[in-house]
Amino acid sequence: MNNLLDLIKNRRSIRKYMPDQIKDEELNLILEAGIFAPSGHNDQPWYFTVIQNKEVLDEINIKSKELMKKASTDWIVKMAENEKYHILHNAPTVIIVSGLETNNKELPYCPMADCSAAVQNMLLMAESLGVASCWVGLTTFIFEDEEEVKKLNLPEGYKPQFAVTLGYSAITKELKALPRKENVINYIK
Ligand SMILES: Cc1cc2nc3c(=O)[nH]c(=O)nc-3n(C[C@H](O)[C@H](O)[C@H](O)COP(=O)(O)O)c2cc1C
Repeated sequence: MNNLLDLIKNRRSIRKYMPDQIKDEELNLILEAGIFAPSGHNDQPWYFTVIQNKEVLDEINIKSKELMKKASTDWIVKMAENEKYHILHNAPTVIIVSGLETNNKELPYCPMADCSAAVQNMLLMAESLGVASCWVGLTTFIFEDEEEVKKLNLPEGYKPQFAVTLGYSAITKELKALPRKENVINYIK
């Protein structure tokens, strides 16, 4: 029990990776953790695209930054203008998590929540294996571009939601848990 809480507290978003690729066994366990996440109505409306091709990852970075430069939010534009910033943190492995789109008549009714649960499972599994990770949502910009999404060859009806970067950490200093906001719990007994 406490070990799980320690694992949860010790996980940090890592944004600097060694070039070495993670082991296939590690990747498979991380994917397995993702597919065993809970999902509304047990729809399991997710699809995982594993990208381990540096050229493809760099293309996603370049295209994303082009699109982010047109954003209406200042901090996003500033990030895109920073030449050193790589949206996927130069990680050797990236998993794109896509969700089956909801339509009015048919389920799934909450694919984004389901994909988020899968992402968190993968981050914790990675942490338990000593694999560094980061949840990336700024891929939203490229995921809105139909031509770019076509390149992922997703099954019909799926829309990419998030990316997860994976690799071995290149951060040498210890990263402490970030301070938590207070007064976020109420008890009704
Ligand atoms: C929905 C979501 C989107 C995120 N998008 C990004 C992102 O695009 N790039 C990034 O570097 N980190 C991203 N993060 C990671 C957060 O910045 C990070 O979790 C937060 O700062 C707390 O740090 P920690 O994960 O080390 O505890 C995202 C996290 C979530 C949950």
